[in-house]
Amino acid sequence: MMLFPKIIEYQPYSICNANCTYCPVGHLNREQKLKGNSISQEVFETLIEQTKSQKIERVSPHLNCEPLLCKELPDQIKTWKKYHPNAIIDLSTNAVFLNEKMFLNLVDAGLDILELHYMGVNKDYHEKAMKTNYEKVKGNVDLALELKKKYNVKMDIVVFSHRLKGASLSQWNDFATSLQEKGARISLGPLWNRAGWYGKEFEKKRKGILKSNKPYPCPKPWNQIAVEHDGEVVLCSLDYKKVVKIGNILKNNIIDIWNNEVMKRYQEGQNDIKKLKKLDLCNECIRGGRYLINEATLTKLVTKKIENPIAKLFYKKYLQVIDLF
Ligand SMILES: C[S@@+](CC[C@H](N)C(=O)[O-])C[C@H]1O[C@@H](n2cnc3c(N)ncnc32)[C@H](O)[C@@H]1O
Ligand code: SF4
Ligand code: SF4
Repeated sequence: MMLFPKIIEYQPYSICNANCTYCPVGHLNREQKLKGNSISQEVFETLIEQTKSQKIERVSPHLNCEPLLCKELPDQIKTWKKYHPNAIIDLSTNAVFLNEKMFLNLVDAGLDILELHYMGVNKDYHEKAMKTNYEKVKGNVDLALELKKKYNVKMDIVVFSHRLKGASLSQWNDFATSLQEKGARISLGPLWNRAGWYGKEFEKKRKGILKSNKPYPCPKPWNQIAVEHDGEVVLCSLDYKKVVKIGNILKNNIIDIWNNEVMKRYQEGQNDIKKLKKLDLCNECIRGGRYLINEATLTKLVTKKIENPIAKLFYKKYLQVIDLF
């Protein structure tokens, strides 16, 4: 049986304005002096053409770039909704360009989930982590939440942050509960090592104990395709150097790419630890599932709101202990 990805992740723009310390995209864009341009109409139309007869569950137009730099993004979302009305369109942004006009255009286009990648426990922490202006991003996050309330918008807003050194769970708890009061959903996830990109440096950034040192099977080679702005298909968002050669949608059909020899090796390798250890990138990849405290538990811990001051004091002490894990 021929497989087809259920999740389409693509790159609406070629570069990112930010330069997060835990994501190679901004750094690589600067090093390679890459020019900013939107996905070509030809690549976008090919994506639609090659997926329209398939059942797609999610579309994520945020592969390795800052998607709000793409002026055509709201029109692209409308097109996805036209051909895949049941697919969830889930967009992640660093929120620097999230003004009122863009927000309302995204709502109007039918966006289902807006993920705001924000590290704002305090100004210093945020700016060191993402190298974007704290006041600007905080203002944009607050504005989006106010507009959601004002216009009674259904679209889900999720503030998405990463647990890394320099902030305690107690600080994340204050951050999370204040944003929840404004109507945001919160997600705090452990840091990924970007498929080994950071080598030993990663230990200096991350917090949390790993369950195991062995590679861990991943659903992405089965479920999720990653298409760059020029039509190139990469293994996943972590193949920054295009180590795994898979294909280009302008030359081959997605269904053939997804069932070619390279993809088969990556798909079957997820079910066999010996094979997994031999797969470039996957063999070094530390993702959320490898941590003792995963994203769901971290999120539950930091979103707990306690009114009673004494109970709150005890809860903060409890978080101090959990922070050791
Ligand atoms: C690469 S970004 C592209 C979209 C946009 N620039 C943004 O930051 O939301 C896509 C997602 O990767 C996440 N991400 C980046 N570095 C990460 C890391 N080291 N571990 C886990 N997630 C990471 C971001 O939080 C974001 O949700
Ligand atoms: S995580 Fe997003 S905002 Fe940060 S550098 Fe990567 S692509 Fe840019
Ligand atoms: S395990 Fe492999 S496919 Fe999955 S995220 Fe890591 S590098 Fe990508």
